[in-house]
Amino acid sequence: MENNKIKRGEEIELIISDIAFGGRGISKFNDLIFFVKDAIPNQKVIARISKVKKNYAEAFKIKTVEKSIHEIEPRCNHFKYCGGCTLQQLDYQKQIHYKEQQVKDNIIKIGEIKNPKINNIIPCDKIFNYRNKMEYTFSGNPWFIADETYDDVVIGLHVPKRFDKILSIDECHINDSIFNDININIKGIVNKLKLEPYHVRDHQGFLRFLVLRMGIHTGEIMVNLVTSGYKPILIKPIIDLIIKKFSNVSSIVNTINANKNNTATGNTKIMYGKSYINEKIGNYIFKISSNSFFQTNSYQVKILYDYIIKTAEFKESDIVYDLYCGTGTIGIYISSYVKKVYGIEIVKNAIEDAKFNAKRNNVKNIFFYTSDIKDYFNNNKIEKPNTIIIDPPRPGLHPQVVKDIIKLSPSKIIYVSCNPSTQARDVKLFLESKYQISDIQPIDMFPHTPHIECVITLKK
Ligand SMILES: C[S@@+](CC[C@H](N)C(=O)[O-])C[C@H]1O[C@@H](n2cnc3c(N)ncnc32)[C@H](O)[C@@H]1O
Repeated sequence: MENNKIKRGEEIELIISDIAFGGRGISKFNDLIFFVKDAIPNQKVIARISKVKKNYAEAFKIKTVEKSIHEIEPRCNHFKYCGGCTLQQLDYQKQIHYKEQQVKDNIIKIGEIKNPKINNIIPCDKIFNYRNKMEYTFSGNPWFIADETYDDVVIGLHVPKRFDKILSIDECHINDSIFNDININIKGIVNKLKLEPYHVRDHQGFLRFLVLRMGIHTGEIMVNLVTSGYKPILIKPIIDLIIKKFSNVSSIVNTINANKNNTATGNTKIMYGKSYINEKIGNYIFKISSNSFFQTNSYQVKILYDYIIKTAEFKESDIVYDLYCGTGTIGIYISSYVKKVYGIEIVKNAIEDAKFNAKRNNVKNIFFYTSDIKDYFNNNKIEKPNTIIIDPPRPGLHPQVVKDIIKLSPSKIIYVSCNPSTQARDVKLFLESKYQISDIQPIDMFPHTPHIECVITLKK
């Protein structure tokens, strides 16, 4: 089929053969590739075309004609509309099979490596209720589902590709189940109090986000109410209710974001308890503040960090850089195996937390600096490393950072990533220099979602 023969809005029967990075089903039909939303391998579907490009088309499933042998009933009532857990209709063993395959595809196509040897993906034991953080949005503009009625204020998640429509969520199966109770209680009281949700189109209103975090291994919970202004009297009844009903809540904060940007960050005021919660990883305890990054799967993070120790084969004399160190978790966790660790991170608050974490865990051989990594090595000289651990955000490494690392010439680079495509792009650059891949380890941290964590070890 030539793409000029298919049109937007047309319906077409397709057999799904694979999963693309990001979770959509792939179908190849008459030399054209179709990316089909909500479809999984081995399904025969009727799909409606939503976009036509030169070499591919995008579509969404409107009906399953034949089920996949790997298809299971999604546990979640919101599955059809929520874009979060798109793989939930696929048996977990198959989910991880495709994730492993996607790591391989990225390494071959983007990294341009023939026949890469990839370890079997490390699966999760706990595939539901594993998330320690959820960011819900307050809204007066719900995504309407036939036959359902809504309160004036809903709390939920964005409908895919709609910045203004919120799918009301009562029960999410990937977060800790106590979040669902807190969410329902807060929804009840904000409607009773007739508090106004924030409107993202005209930038009016008060309640913006509800961010819940939990130290899974300490039981401590943080409730972060993000509002457009500081009006403590308005939120006092919410705080009183939470304190009365949820004894595990040890921190309630109010983040004020008066800007038009649609983020849950801003100036934070403590409304109850501490400004942070604690989480344990192995023998270490870490502070999590409202604005700091922390791995969202506390059950699997120890497995990830233990794997880093295994692949690094540290020596007592090693000098290690922990780049993009967040609150210092990786650096502190590996500190007893090496001589010194230097952690660098752009967020000032995260570095303050990292220093606090080092002190409370009595780790004396780690040093932290606040900087954009791309600027750090231009202006600063710290002793040269044997090993560099990098754990950048999804866009991967700035080209300057790749150059700086190559110049520093560590004998090992351990690249931790939640985006195998930017990771493969960056690894290619290291391979063009003097490095070779010694190990590729995908780890599932995010069951039912298309997200993949992968660690690639490079050696000189
Ligand atoms: C995926 S997180 C990793 C955090 C940490 N390694 C951990 O496991 O908890 C990426 C971190 O990179 C930081 N970051 C993002 N861009 C940065 C930059 N240009 N320079 C330094 N740090 C950056 C973020 O603030 C975040 O803490």
